[in-house]
Amino acid sequence: MSRRNVYRESVLGIGYDLVKACVLQTAFELWIFEALKDAPKSALVLSEHLGANRRSLELFLNALVSLGFLASEGPMYQNTKYGTEIFLKGKPLYIGDMVGLQTRSAGNWLKLKECVMSGTSVAQPDFSKVDHVEAASGFARAMHNTAMGHAEFLSRKLPLASVRSLLDLGGGPGTFTIHFLHANPGLRATIFDLPATLQTTRTFVEQAKLAERVSYQEGDFNCDEIKGMFGACFMSHIIHSQSAELNRALLSNVFKHLNPDGRLIVQDFFLNPDRTSPQFPALFALNMLVHTESGQTYTFDEVAQWMREAGFEEVKSLKFRLPRGIALLTAKKS
Ligand SMILES: C[S@@+](CC[C@H](N)C(=O)[O-])C[C@H]1O[C@@H](n2cnc3c(N)ncnc32)[C@H](O)[C@@H]1O
Repeated sequence: MSRRNVYRESVLGIGYDLVKACVLQTAFELWIFEALKDAPKSALVLSEHLGANRRSLELFLNALVSLGFLASEGPMYQNTKYGTEIFLKGKPLYIGDMVGLQTRSAGNWLKLKECVMSGTSVAQPDFSKVDHVEAASGFARAMHNTAMGHAEFLSRKLPLASVRSLLDLGGGPGTFTIHFLHANPGLRATIFDLPATLQTTRTFVEQAKLAERVSYQEGDFNCDEIKGMFGACFMSHIIHSQSAELNRALLSNVFKHLNPDGRLIVQDFFLNPDRTSPQFPALFALNMLVHTESGQTYTFDEVAQWMREAGFEEVKSLKFRLPRGIALLTAKKS
C-alpha cells in the first residue's frame, strides 16, 4: 500500500476507536468482568446470568476477546491475566471508575461542535466543580484510578523528605498525598478541595490508616481563604481546569502560604511550545473545552512565567517518563 493509502486507512479506522471505547464501557456497565471473576463461563451461562440475549451477547464477548479484554477457550470466556488486575473492583490498579466517568461524559463529546463554535463548555455540570456528593465521588474515584498508575513512583522521586507540611491543593481522592505520606514518615498533609469531594477523600485516607496525619480544608480555592503556612504545595491536574487569569491569581495566593524555601510542585499535561504536541495534552485541551467553563492545557513556558510572576524562583521541569504526557514543574519560594 502507498503511504497515502496507509494514512487514509488509518484515518478511516479512527471511527472504530469510538466502537472500541463503547465495547469497553458496555462491558463495565454489564459487569462482564465481575461475572467471570470466579470461573470461565459460556455465552449461554453468561446470558442467563445477565438476562441478555444469547446471540448478541456472544457477538459482544467475541469483540471483547478480539480487543484483548477477555480470553476464550472453545465456548468458554474468561478474564485475562492483566484483566484480573485492572477490571475487577477493589483491585489497586482498577480502572472501572475512570471508564465509568468516560461513559458519563460521552454525550458531552457529541457537543464538541457547539463548544468549538461558542468558545465554551455546554456540559452540565462543569466537571471540575462537582458539588453534589454522588457525582463528586464518581469523579474522585476516577481520579484515584488514574493517579494509581504512577503515584507510588512519584512518591519515590519527589524530594519531600525534609518537608514537614504539604498542601495538596485540589487533592481530590488524596491518592498522591497518601503515597507521599507513606514514603515520607515525617510529613503531614492538608488536602484542600470542595466539600462534596472531601467526603470521598476522607474515606480513602482512613482506609490508608493515615487519618492522624491529614487535615482538610473545605472550600473554593479561587475565593475561599487557604489557612496556614506550608513547606510545599502540590497542585496536580488543577491548572488545566481553569483560565490563565485564575491560575495566575491562584499561584500568587499559594506563594503567600509557603514558608521561605517552600516548594511548589505542579503536575499536569503540559504542551510543547508548538501547542500541537504531545498528542494527549493537545487532545486534553478539548476535554477541558467540552467539560469546563475556561479550562485548557498550557505550555511549560506559560506556567513557568506565572510562577515567576507570583514570585517563585528556580523554576524547573522534572523529566520523568509518565503516562499521557504528564509532566511536573517545580519552583521555590526564596
Ligand atoms: C482533576 S481533579 C485532580 C485531583 C488530584 N489532584 C489528582 O491529581 O488526582 C481536580 C480536583 O480539584 C478540585 N477542584 C476544582 N476546582 C476547585 C476549586 N475551585 N476549589 C477547590 N477544589 C477544586 C476538584 O474537586 C477535584 O478534586
